[in-house]
Amino acid sequence: MEQKYYQQPRIPISPVLSAKSFGLNKSTIAKISDLKYTLYTTSGRSAIAIALKYFEVGSNDEVLVPTFHCTSMVDPVIWLEAKPVFYTIEINHEKTLLKASIASIKKLITPNTKALIVAHYFGQMQEISALYALCKEKKIRIIEDCAHMYFGGDTNSAIGQYSDFVIGSALKFYAMFDGGCLCSNTHKLPKNIFSTRNVKFEIKSLVNCLERSLHYKRLLLISYFLAPLLSLKDYLWNKVKKKSTATSYSPAAAEGGFGFDPNWVYKPMSITSRLIAFLTNDGRLVKLRRKNYMKWHQELKNVEGGKALFDELSIFTVPHVFPFLVDQPEIIFPILKNLGVPILRFGEFLWDDTLYKVCPLTNYLSKHCFQFPCHQELSPAELDWAITTVKSVLSEHA
Ligand SMILES: Cc1ncc(COP(=O)(O)O)c(C=O)c1O
Repeated sequence: MEQKYYQQPRIPISPVLSAKSFGLNKSTIAKISDLKYTLYTTSGRSAIAIALKYFEVGSNDEVLVPTFHCTSMVDPVIWLEAKPVFYTIEINHEKTLLKASIASIKKLITPNTKALIVAHYFGQMQEISALYALCKEKKIRIIEDCAHMYFGGDTNSAIGQYSDFVIGSALKFYAMFDGGCLCSNTHKLPKNIFSTRNVKFEIKSLVNCLERSLHYKRLLLISYFLAPLLSLKDYLWNKVKKKSTATSYSPAAAEGGFGFDPNWVYKPMSITSRLIAFLTNDGRLVKLRRKNYMKWHQELKNVEGGKALFDELSIFTVPHVFPFLVDQPEIIFPILKNLGVPILRFGEFLWDDTLYKVCPLTNYLSKHCFQFPCHQELSPAELDWAITTVKSVLSEHA
């Protein structure tokens, strides 16, 4: 498939470090790393791989994966030589969440089914209790994919209370370069599975965070001091790269890619990312993500040419992004990208082309669902600019 390259977004697509990022205000909404046992990985896909490996998933085993996915959810299954089996998804009547089709899952279970991966799309928690019961009855391991839901939970169940494992992608919620986690209430995770820290990666994690921050004009007070140091770093880094035969100094997830490199599975989250997760003002993060999401929702409510994927934001949801269905995606996408609007398109590329035909909803979302950032580090001016730009492009082409 031909990939087009666009300029860097004018405003940050994911959180960037600022002086305001830090603080002691904790969130009142649960987060996945509050579960009893947590391992901090470099990415969510590594966490999926470790969870599957923990249950000794291997050849002849089948793992149930949703048709609406990104390929980094499937790669760990393939890495273990197991077979991904794809179940369909549906949207509830109230249009408040996307969920796994239990009927589809039931049809696909065989004696070889070892595990089920269920994703809480875009931060909205799906009804999970029926799936817990089904997996218990059929003796299937359940992995809740909370890559989009680092925080959340509803009145009946905080996230991951009853599943075998929960995986998270911390780098989608915090201003960090690398970061994932594997959490559980029931399975104690061995701490010694990680390889030793890689100094080059540790430096890269720190420097990348600072560079992104400066690029988007954050941390201005220290930028005069940092800018010459970062130029020196570029010079030295190019020299190191020329001499070295190593192919990658960081996991694909940190670079925004979907690739899977087994060499990164058993590497620990960098020290910089651990510190950022620890020092971030979670209360502010939760409040601003919800506020920014609602602003997108309110402003694009009556616009022609598209509509919000979900009608409501539950009080326990801490959104990853604002998902929006666009009527004419082929026309609107390049225009917005060329203007520098950040857009994510989860599920655009599926593991196998035949899957577009298996689930009509997946097919529709993969083409029409754009996701705009609503993270805590967008300034009010940046958010206004993005909303105004999207509105004007949509109405011009309605
Ligand atoms: C639903 C879902 N699961 C898993 C992953 C993998 O997470 P990571 O990028 O941290 O490896 C992603 C990444 O986008 C995702 O969207």
